[in-house]
Amino acid sequence: MNGNLKLAVQKKGRLTEKSLELLRHCGMEIENYSERLVVTVRNFPMDILFLRDDDIPEYVQDGVADIGIVGENVIYEKQSKTDTMEKLGFGKCSLQLAYPENKELKTLGDVNGKIIATTYPKILKDFLNKNNLDAKIIELSGSVEIAPSLGIADLICDIVSTGNTLMMNKLKKSFKVFDSEAVMISSSNANSKNEILNDLLGRIRSVLKARSSKYLMMNIPKNSLDEIIRIIPSLKSPTVLHLADEHLLAVHAVIPSDTFWQIFGELKSAGASGILLLPIENMIL
Ligand code: PRP
Ligand code: ZN
Repeated sequence: MNGNLKLAVQKKGRLTEKSLELLRHCGMEIENYSERLVVTVRNFPMDILFLRDDDIPEYVQDGVADIGIVGENVIYEKQSKTDTMEKLGFGKCSLQLAYPENKELKTLGDVNGKIIATTYPKILKDFLNKNNLDAKIIELSGSVEIAPSLGIADLICDIVSTGNTLMMNKLKKSFKVFDSEAVMISSSNANSKNEILNDLLGRIRSVLKARSSKYLMMNIPKNSLDEIIRIIPSLKSPTVLHLADEHLLAVHAVIPSDTFWQIFGELKSAGASGILLLPIENMIL
């Protein structure tokens, strides 16, 4: 046992690349992870364990890994005793009831008496109970989407992200059962490595914050400064610079990423020109 923090991530799947990308944005050098079960980060006291996502909650609960990155869907299903420390903003998907394109499911009540195949029996059972529905659940360990065409189920209950898997299997989503995204979980004995964990969490939070913001730069006519300040949200004190042309000012500001296209037109009408919107690599507040 080295004293490194042990982080579990999905070995191969929807969350793998995005989890590693987040770590790399946090400054971690991770090499050659393909085919390996454990990789030590080169410049940070952390080992990355590559595991099946379904196993991550249990490994973290038992302390084999100190922390893990996994979908909320898996955490709920496994009912493990772990703490959720941070929502990570990627891996967004939902657990959906889906049925063959040539059939119809008009109301949720039509689920009664049907056979539903899923890898999420616990979440599905809770959903059925909550809605007073009575259906038979068949638990499969994977490839749920082929169950209807094999004739072993009427419906499926599975994760939908882009919808490609459903489309390729001629299935349509109908009712949403659960929303999910990737989160960071920890075990109770991650405490002994608090210092490393806090360092990592601080970095992750600053990266997430930066991802939700953009750096806006533009030139404006001097006399429209007040109007520009009114248009830009969350702007307490923009950076205002003088330009060689004395009728103009340069204004720089950090804005929430999703507001840019809402204010773009107004900025133009207020006379803004040379508008640049840049990504922010890191943000420490
Ligand atoms: C889910 C699900 C589908 C896929 C759907 O698997 O079982 O295979 O994602 O994504 P799509 O709508 O973008 O096609 P998941 O990644 O959760 O991994 P799993 O292998 O552990 O089921
Ligand atoms: Zn899985």
